Amino acid sequence: MDIWRIRGGHRLTGVCFVQGSKNASLPILAASMLAPAETELQNVPQLKDIDAALRILRHLGCEAEQRENEVYIDARGVSRCFIPHKLMLEMRSSVIFMGALLARCGEARLSPPGGCQLGKRPIDLHLAALRQLGAQIEEDGDEILCRAGRLRGTELLLPFPSVGATENIMLAATAAEGETVIRGAAREPEITALQDYLVKLGFAVSGAGTERIVIGGRRRVEHIEHRVLADRIVASTVACAAAACGGSVELRGVEPEHFSTVLHFLKQAGCDIIIKNRSVWLRSGGRLYGVGPVRTEPYPGFPTDAQPVLMAALLKARGRSVITETIFENRFRQVPELKRLGADITLRGQSAEIWGVDSLHGTVLNATDLRGGAAMIVAGLTAEGETQVFDEGHIRRGYERFDARLRALGADICLDQY
Ligand code: EPU
Repeated sequence: MDIWRIRGGHRLTGVCFVQGSKNASLPILAASMLAPAETELQNVPQLKDIDAALRILRHLGCEAEQRENEVYIDARGVSRCFIPHKLMLEMRSSVIFMGALLARCGEARLSPPGGCQLGKRPIDLHLAALRQLGAQIEEDGDEILCRAGRLRGTELLLPFPSVGATENIMLAATAAEGETVIRGAAREPEITALQDYLVKLGFAVSGAGTERIVIGGRRRVEHIEHRVLADRIVASTVACAAAACGGSVELRGVEPEHFSTVLHFLKQAGCDIIIKNRSVWLRSGGRLYGVGPVRTEPYPGFPTDAQPVLMAALLKARGRSVITETIFENRFRQVPELKRLGADITLRGQSAEIWGVDSLHGTVLNATDLRGGAAMIVAGLTAEGETQVFDEGHIRRGYERFDARLRALGADICLDQY
């Protein structure tokens, strides 16, 4: 059990070097087993989900090691095509190994993935697309059995731009005969990052960042080096924390464009924001104004992963804010906990109405999921007295040394692990 102890009321000031992106690293780790090659990755965050992906790679026969923020993978020895249930349950991204295994071994045996409980998280789009590429898939209780004598390139249309389904198709299609075209693809920066890695690995992939991605043939490559991009959700979280606490924080090493929708609302809330190449400087007086309407959408819209932390930043903002969640059916799990701090939030279906209150009062909270837990920390930083967030390890799935990073900016926070 992790217990995050926060004494609120401190301004945040200083420079924050933003960690590498979890959601960009995970599909790249799955992709690293596509070809019998060695990969060296830089800027990989040290997180529980990354550790789970490395354990899956080792189970499949790869050498896979992390030292600080560098990862080495040797995928020449892949010898297995099944992933045990226990490893699958550790995170949602384990499902991306389905496409990678099909491509490398022609077979994949696994079970439905774990991950945050944000409502139903089916994988029907993944399975339908892999079937269209020629995979035979049987679902037997908790086992998914995929086989593909031959995968055939084809044109696929995704009815919804699912990030994971787009990644899975990209990985499987690397082994298909002929060209695969994905229409209606997700356009998130993590998809472009996966394309960049696949191109280095020798695959002909283009179009990422648009709704049409084309995957073609491969030339042989034996060794590649790749740097993971900065995490736009961690950057958004620190920006929201600084906005709510007041102060002046510079986020370094980021791609400002990747979280411009979050910055847009922080500006609307009254922050000064200066963007310079790969850094964002945010200054806040601490008392924000309500914003809205905010509506989560697939990229380039407002990211669902930043919704809970923006909500936390707005709890003391003057006036009313309205946030609508359209991506996940159950992503307001942080709300009952935030209300225990004294927040005034009313849920109406998929919308949350927040009326800013004068003060929040520290208490004991339970982290419900990764971003919901991060939101409780942001709220705790602005509450009077001590807030304790009891957490089964959700927050460390996505935030590397979060307590140390916030302490370096002046926050009074510590993490006790039991
Ligand atoms: N969906 C389906 N069928 C499918 C796939 C998705 O109905 O086959 C639905 C989901 O149930 C959900 C919506 O489509 O309602 C979006 O799902 P998507 O597949 O786009 O999300 P994901 O690949 O499961 C990734 C991130 C999430 C992030 C979402 C949306 C990773 C490892 N996870 O999930 O990140 O919220 O995209 O941007 O990349 C997080 O980091 O906290 C996190 C949850």
